[in-house]
This record gives sequence, C-alpha cells and structure tokens, in this order.
Amino acid sequence: MTIDWNSLGFEYIKTPWRFLAKWKNGSWEEGTLTEDSTLHISESSPALHYGQQCFEGLKAYGRKDGGINLFRVDENSKRLNRSANRLRMPEVPQEMFIDAVKSVVKANREFVPPYGTGATLYIRPLLIGVGDTIGVHPADEFIFTVFCMPVGPYFKGGMAPTNFIVSDYDRAAPNGTGAAKVGGNYAASLLPGEEAQGKNFSDCIYLDPETHSKIEEVGSANFFGITKDNEFITPKSPSILPSITKYSLLHLAEKLGMKAVEAEVHLDELDQFVEAGACGTAAVISPIGGIQTKDEFHVFYSETEVGPVTKKLYDELVSIQYGDRPAPEGWIFEVE
Ligand code: PLP
Ligand code: COI
Repeated sequence: MTIDWNSLGFEYIKTPWRFLAKWKNGSWEEGTLTEDSTLHISESSPALHYGQQCFEGLKAYGRKDGGINLFRVDENSKRLNRSANRLRMPEVPQEMFIDAVKSVVKANREFVPPYGTGATLYIRPLLIGVGDTIGVHPADEFIFTVFCMPVGPYFKGGMAPTNFIVSDYDRAAPNGTGAAKVGGNYAASLLPGEEAQGKNFSDCIYLDPETHSKIEEVGSANFFGITKDNEFITPKSPSILPSITKYSLLHLAEKLGMKAVEAEVHLDELDQFVEAGACGTAAVISPIGGIQTKDEFHVFYSETEVGPVTKKLYDELVSIQYGDRPAPEGWIFEVE
C-alpha cells in the first residue's frame, strides 16, 4: 500500500496489526497483537445495547531523527480509567495500556507518517462491555483493543480558520457523562454535527446544558479564546471532556508569559476575544474564524488568517510533540 501522506484526511485506514485483550472472571488476560480487524462478540453485548463502552484518542509522531514519540499517553490511560469507572467497566492497568499502544505503533511502523509530512499516526484505544447480559446491568466480560491509522487534518482547513455554529442541541446533561469519553456523547452529536455541516460550518459549538448561555465545547474538541490582554481562556464546566491538549496549552501559554485560566465563557461576551480556536488530539489547534449565534455571525481574528497567538501556541505544542523543542518533564514517551 502506498500512501500519499500529504493528502490524508481523518478516515479509517486498516493497518495490519491491533492489540486485543479480554477481561473475564475478574481479571485481564495478557492480550496479544492480532491481524484480525473484526470483533466477534455476543449479540447481547451491553456495548451494543446500552452503550457500555469508552475510548481514547492519541497520536504517534515521526521525529526528525527517525524515532517515534507519543504525547502524554499516561493521561490517556488515566482518562480511559475515569470513563471506565463512570460506566462500570474494569480499569485497564496503565502499564498494559501504554505497552499495548507502543506495541501497536511498532507493529505498524511503516504506517507512521515521516517527519515533515504534517501527518501522524492516530491511535484508538477502545474498551467495550461484551458477553451475554441483556438486562440493564454491567457486562461480565470486556474487550480492550487498540488500533491505529495514519491521519491528516481533522477539520478540512487544518491550520486555516473555519467557522462554527452554536447548537440548540446538547451533547451531554449537567450531571451526565459529558466528562467521560463515551460513545453516547458522540452519538448525540451526530445529528447536530450534520446539521452544522449542512450549513457549511465545520461543526457546532455546544452551550452549557443548564442555561444555554455559556460555551462548552466543540463536538470533537475543546474551545479556547485569546483576549485583548493576551489571556488564554478555556471553558470550565463539569460536562465537557477534560482535553489533554487543553491542559497542555494552559501550561504552555503560561510558559509563554500569558495568563491562562479555565473560566466560564459567556456567549454574550465573545467580544473579549481577539482570537479563538478548537483544540484536541485530532483537531490539534484549529483556528476558529467566526461563530454563528442566533443573533449574529461573530468573527474573531479573521475568517482567512490565523491569529499570531494561536500560531505561536500551535508552533510550541507541535514542536514539542515532534521532539523539536524541549518538552515539560514527562510529556514525551519515546516508542523508539
Ligand atoms: N472534547 C471532545 C468532545 C473530544 O472528543 C476531544 C478529543 O479527544 C477533545 C475535547 C480533546 O481532547 P484531547 O485533547 O484529550 O484529545
Ligand atoms: C480525538 O481527538 O482523539 C477525538 O477523539 C476526537 C474525535 C475524532 C472523536
């Protein structure tokens, strides 16, 4: 298979190897790499009926020296276990999680996009409740699997700004599962996402489900804004996904001399921002040109150009991920 690394989007590509382990009778089996990309599970699996599943997303970066980096994979492991606890699934031990990710990357080495192509290897760990349970109870068997594929930009624009629209729908409830990376949140976002794309927006922006007056996040990434005073602000809410990229940017913004805070972001205070963006593993930093609200189309920096602070944060984050600039302690895990 020859891949044009530069023209990749964010689509499934079957790579040769994935990791799979089963949990049965109270413990995880060792697990193994397999070439079988089809899951064989009971028709009554709770993952299928009641959404008892959670997942993660992280990337491997091809370094300039030919090696491969993972970025903060320990945080993905912790978040998977928080999601698992919320949905009554067994935790995956951190060592097993990290070893599985590393072994899948190594086994699919030829699919790690080379340095300089702008593409990365996207890794998808997945934990599902399986077995013969048809009542609304936790499953008694589970599968943990990790597969991967090379990807390019998630939003079509990549580092070019795109526009978003505020949604009337909610992706999560105030005390629901918004902070867990579980499939149900994404199922809830499919219709709003399609409606937004049908109107030529990249995706929608969800508001807080209680008052519909504050920005929560994008369907697949967190939101941030840069104020006139060079402050980095990102929404604080119990119903958004705690983005590892967002917490990394909070740290890096401070390092770059900015004030960086999590705070409520009221929709009627968008004027405070001179730049805005969406951030996440798949989205990296995707600049937001403008947001369509009920009343107006609000442009931040520009619909066509990236703001200087967004660019600076992007350069810092991506350089660290590829190993071109020194990383804060513990952020980089070398696969090889
Ligand atoms: N918010 C949602 C809903 C997401 O799906 C993601 C992607 O994982 C993010 C935020 C960003 O999180 P992270 O930076 O950990 O990838
Ligand atoms: C990620 O950024 O890893 C995501 O999970 C976002 C989306 C592809 C669901």
